[in-house]
Amino acid sequence: MDFKDAQARVEELRRLIRYHDYQYYVLAKPKISDYEYDQLLRKLQALEEQFPQLITPDSPTQRVGGEPIEGFVQVRHEVPMLSLDNVYDSEELHEFDARVKRGLSLPLEEDVEYMVEQKFDGVAVSLKYIGGSFTLGATRGNGEVGDDITHNLRTIPTIPLTIPDKGELTIRGEVLMPISGFDELNRSLVAEGREPFANPRNATAGSLKLLDPRITAKRPLEFFAYYLIGDEDIATQHCALERLEELGFKVNPRRTLSSGLVGVEEFYERWSVQKEKLDYHVDGIVLKLDRFELWNILGKTSRSPRYAVAYKFAAEQATTTLEEVLYSVGRTGVITPIAILTPVRLSGTMVSRASLHNFNEVARLDVRKGDTVVIQKAGEIIPEIVEVLYSKRPKEVAKKPTHPPTHCPICATELVREEGMVALSCPNIACPAQLKGRILHFAGRGSMDIEGMGDALVSQLVERGLLADAGDIYSLTLEQLISLERMGEKSSQNLLDAIEESKRQPLDRLLNALGIPNVGSTTAVDLAHNFASLDALAGASPSRLEEVEGVGPIVASSIQSFFQVEGNRQAIKKLRTAGVNFQAEQVPSAVESELSRKNFVFTGSLKDFTREQAAEEVIRRGGRVSSAVSKNTDYVVIGKKPGSKLEKARGLGVTILSEEEFTALLEGKNL
Ligand code: IVH
Repeated sequence: MDFKDAQARVEELRRLIRYHDYQYYVLAKPKISDYEYDQLLRKLQALEEQFPQLITPDSPTQRVGGEPIEGFVQVRHEVPMLSLDNVYDSEELHEFDARVKRGLSLPLEEDVEYMVEQKFDGVAVSLKYIGGSFTLGATRGNGEVGDDITHNLRTIPTIPLTIPDKGELTIRGEVLMPISGFDELNRSLVAEGREPFANPRNATAGSLKLLDPRITAKRPLEFFAYYLIGDEDIATQHCALERLEELGFKVNPRRTLSSGLVGVEEFYERWSVQKEKLDYHVDGIVLKLDRFELWNILGKTSRSPRYAVAYKFAAEQATTTLEEVLYSVGRTGVITPIAILTPVRLSGTMVSRASLHNFNEVARLDVRKGDTVVIQKAGEIIPEIVEVLYSKRPKEVAKKPTHPPTHCPICATELVREEGMVALSCPNIACPAQLKGRILHFAGRGSMDIEGMGDALVSQLVERGLLADAGDIYSLTLEQLISLERMGEKSSQNLLDAIEESKRQPLDRLLNALGIPNVGSTTAVDLAHNFASLDALAGASPSRLEEVEGVGPIVASSIQSFFQVEGNRQAIKKLRTAGVNFQAEQVPSAVESELSRKNFVFTGSLKDFTREQAAEEVIRRGGRVSSAVSKNTDYVVIGKKPGSKLEKARGLGVTILSEEEFTALLEGKNL
């Protein structure tokens, strides 16, 4: 193909891909299969590879994120990004409306038209399009000057890289992370041993302030447009929103045009109740005068416009007293501070505990026993302390700052802080709290899955000295179990059966169950696939370990040290004597050639398999499963509601399989 033909073909492909992106991401109504889409993207990638001079920053292939940037450049907003004044109840809303009418010299009885929208709890950004191309995207900053985050915004599929308007337009709106995507992101961060984000807004802000857009590209971000500047033909906010839709932006369909305040109040009531059902956080509604000419008449104060206001939902916050700070000890010995509160009602439930995260947070808040604190639920189950009301601090409290503990609250061993770490931890691996945590982890769902080994039972077993390590689980007797509180003969026998059953768990489950530091379930699967048995793994050299995907020097050294600790050796000896499976599963040789060494990633829910079952099927056939899409991924299998991995896979040109195609592959059929 010569250059001319390639150029024409590239343009056609980009047009097609943009059209299908819009159908898929904005309208959620895909017109072609993922496979077909994938073929288009691949063709485009191939042509761009062959003719690199044809690559443009607005090509759909560029969504995956380019090279990291060195730092942020500040940019001035041509039109300042204002914030909104808030009103909190119907009376204040009516005052706002009256102020508007006075400003417009209208009689109080006359109704004005308001465009009413939901107020997103996300991150406001401003996008500049010149000649139809996305050229600059910035944060709000101080309203006058923000940070250039174009590199990151480019990766968001709902921000079109080109629009069918050749003028100079500024489009503003909110970047958000859907709650479902946020939960998935946090789960994978935790699985990698990293700090989760406190709420979707923090996750969004954090993702937008990354220097490396390749990471942002993996974050499930969305953009909703609500403000259009630069189109002289548009006279009202409701037309502006419609125009934004025509230009290919996602605009929140939950909006209404209201003459007077009746419709405003209805909209407010409806969403203050139904907001819990949305997959994104809204913290109120915004009403804006519909006609732009009125905006000019009313103007703005230094901070906010007079023609718009935010009507906030009752904050999900409550004020109460901190009765005590307790310290809980996790299975790895890490000490977590927990606030014990005078019980208070918050968003419909009684709350008596709040998370304090870590000791940096305690120091930052300078929170002390006896303080009056504001707690908040920001969509999470466990509330957190967001503010300490220092003015209400009693005199005797003022003298007593909260010092981190020096000794373990459970076993009294002196605590240690590892270099560079925030967390304090108890170094005594025989600490009953750690032991209990380890046993619960060993018996838990993703591990040996011993049904009936719950919190209350494990506490009793540890307290009575019946368990010194996980290996002792396999020598528990019927009499011992029956002697415990709330354990009859039937439930004791059931537990023994479940314990017996667990001996046959595959090697990866056992590896996860052992709780080797830095080895989560994904690494456990990779390890089980690379070593014939637990003994082979225990004897492996660091360099042999590092051959496994996801294992670097830190993980390798964790694994090695784990098997050297005498207590761990003892526990493993007991497991061996009990007959717990130490062997990796045999790969059935007949189908080995098809799937062996192929890397799979799953996203979305499958109808015929749980994730674990699907992974097991792959691993049994010699394939591998990982949690993130990379250039080493061979197949991404998509179920219902696939996450951001799908988009990532498309960007990298990885083969995408439907559940049916996946099943066919498992059955050894050719695709
Ligand atoms: S309009 C001149 N509409 O609220 C008015 N803002 O405190 C500009 N926000 O920084 C804003 N949802 O981040 C508008 N539907 C919506 C909004 C919205 C959320 C945020 C925006 C702004 C803040 C104002």
